[in-house]
Amino acid sequence: MCGIFAYLNYQVPRTRKEIFETLVTGLQRLEYRGYDSAGVAVDCPKKTATDTTDNTICLVKKKGKVKALDEELYKKYSLELDEKLCTHFGLAHTRWATHGEPSAVNSHPQRSDKDNEFVVIHNGIITNYKELKEYLINKGYEFESETDTEVIPKLMKYVYDNRENRGVTFSKLVERVIKQLEGAFALVFKSRHFPGEAVATRRGSPLLIGVRSEHELQTEHIPVQYNSAYFKEGVQEMNSHNRPDCSDSISTVGDGRAVEYYFASDASAIIEHTNKVLYMEDDDIAVVTEGRLSIHRMNRQAGEDPVRAIQTLEMEMQQIMKGNFEAFMQKEIFEQPESVVNTMRGRICFDTNKVILGGLKDHLKEIKRCRRLIMIGCGTSFHAAVATRQILEELTELPVMVELASDFLDRNTPVFRDDVCFFISQSGETADTLMALRYCKERGALTVGITNTVGSSICRETDCGVHINAGPEIGVASTKAYTSQFVALIMFALMLSEDRLSLQKRRLEIINGLKVLPELIKKVLSLDEKIKAIAQELFKQRSLLVMGRGFNYATCLEGALKIKEITYMHSEGILAGELKHGPLALIDKYMPVIMIIMRDACYVKCQNALQQVTARSGRPIILCCQDDPEVTKNAYKTIELPHTVDCLQGILSVIPLQLLSFHLAVLRGYDVDYPRNLAKSVTVE
Ligand code: F6R
Repeated sequence: MCGIFAYLNYQVPRTRKEIFETLVTGLQRLEYRGYDSAGVAVDCPKKTATDTTDNTICLVKKKGKVKALDEELYKKYSLELDEKLCTHFGLAHTRWATHGEPSAVNSHPQRSDKDNEFVVIHNGIITNYKELKEYLINKGYEFESETDTEVIPKLMKYVYDNRENRGVTFSKLVERVIKQLEGAFALVFKSRHFPGEAVATRRGSPLLIGVRSEHELQTEHIPVQYNSAYFKEGVQEMNSHNRPDCSDSISTVGDGRAVEYYFASDASAIIEHTNKVLYMEDDDIAVVTEGRLSIHRMNRQAGEDPVRAIQTLEMEMQQIMKGNFEAFMQKEIFEQPESVVNTMRGRICFDTNKVILGGLKDHLKEIKRCRRLIMIGCGTSFHAAVATRQILEELTELPVMVELASDFLDRNTPVFRDDVCFFISQSGETADTLMALRYCKERGALTVGITNTVGSSICRETDCGVHINAGPEIGVASTKAYTSQFVALIMFALMLSEDRLSLQKRRLEIINGLKVLPELIKKVLSLDEKIKAIAQELFKQRSLLVMGRGFNYATCLEGALKIKEITYMHSEGILAGELKHGPLALIDKYMPVIMIIMRDACYVKCQNALQQVTARSGRPIILCCQDDPEVTKNAYKTIELPHTVDCLQGILSVIPLQLLSFHLAVLRGYDVDYPRNLAKSVTVE
């Protein structure tokens, strides 16, 4: 959902071409977050008649993909590409529309006025923008876009133009403006009144800063500077000036020598430049002035960490590149033998059958004593909860609720202090899940994060958690994160049941299953050609049903979601037990049906469903275990999978559907990694 990238080079000569390349590549890395339009703001200093520089800022914005913006930049500045800029600050943004249709004028950066005095890039939503817009319109401001964001640069200008605010620093202007904003935002500001300066802030949307310097950084921690000053809320008070200034003592990164800064919504846009990063917290205001980075905020809250650490990222550039694959999604599907190993690494001891999730061990007693487990997520992450619910109930002997975050909130679901609530999220930034987390926290429940993104909001705001360590997932359609979430939740169930004597046989069976899981995944992946051939037969269909029950019901939901999101075919995951309660009416010889029939406790019931389908001339494509003549004789086609423990079978059965959706999308001519209307990280409700 919108990607923010900004690049500041201080005393590091870069050609305009190099700066464009940095900005455009940064956006390309973030394109998976949203991609209906993109834009940049760059310096275009001009000499005035009096031979001073006028600090002009130019905006270039384009509807469509980042590539279209790139072409526009080269066209527009073809004669200036070699111009060297010693210090420069550029903003870049890729948009996924929330307010206003995709268009150049609605894309970011948004500006204060025709002279681009203040420009801003924004990820998130300003919920009180209508009120602010009305206020500014009454003050004579004219709006050009339909975005919520445009109120921000206009407010900047409004505050700046007030005579009382003359001489106020850039960061303080920003501070005054964000006090008026409600909603979620990550913002980076640029102004022609403050050339070479950058101000960034966030509330509820992720933002991090990368630092690159030829010199050793003198500090690994930046102490936060607190502004003791407060000013009253409300637009009317925006210009009140009777407040003391914050301390200007500087605790910074950068010592005034050559340094480069990268601001981005996530690390994948920064890692190719530097692995030194600082994650901003809500309401932090990061300021770069004369190459020095400092962090400011309002009053200090109790228990708040007064320093921001410069962390070293361990993500490798090659991890986020596509390699020899046609699409990131395809690469990520094929990475699963490795990604599940990374999820288990150092956590399962196959000699002693012990499972230790370091992030949870201090809370184990509390978890064991709880009243119930509530697993909360959206989309694929929700399906990981559905997939593991049964084994969690069996091994923890606790009631387990699985909840879609949005519905959970809509219902004002009762939550108690002795509940343990899990928040499952690949990105760790999904707004619905994050809000459910805050809701449960307010009610005193213990909160546990299951995420793939170190430093994400869900990681930071939960009491404890597990990183699934699947590696960066770029394709919008989630694949390897799902199987890693699945494995992480199984490990949790195993950890919780360690001292239950009666469950040891079952635990051992599962642990042994996990041990050979990577090899079995490889076997499933070797069926790719066969699955491609099935896709060739199906790709012109309009609809596709996926049916199963028990441990494999989640596979039906997840398979159908993959198919609909990247192939745009209608697809439905159906619980086979519900067949006769409605869906059977859909079955005839034309309707493609995929059935999952594995040798588990539901085997006989699934065979009954198969009879019902074939009796209506249905032609089922069956995912079944190897060597199952009973099932294959009734199948139109089969995909035979290695057999594993019932509760792990869903990890194997989902992979053919991931591959099928990929091949269907390619055959239908769609962009697999960038499905229309979808974004990787959904940071708005
Ligand atoms: C589907 C998909 C989405 C996400 C959902 C939650 O392929 O990727 O359904 O699973 O938007 O996202 P996270 O897991 O980042 O919270």
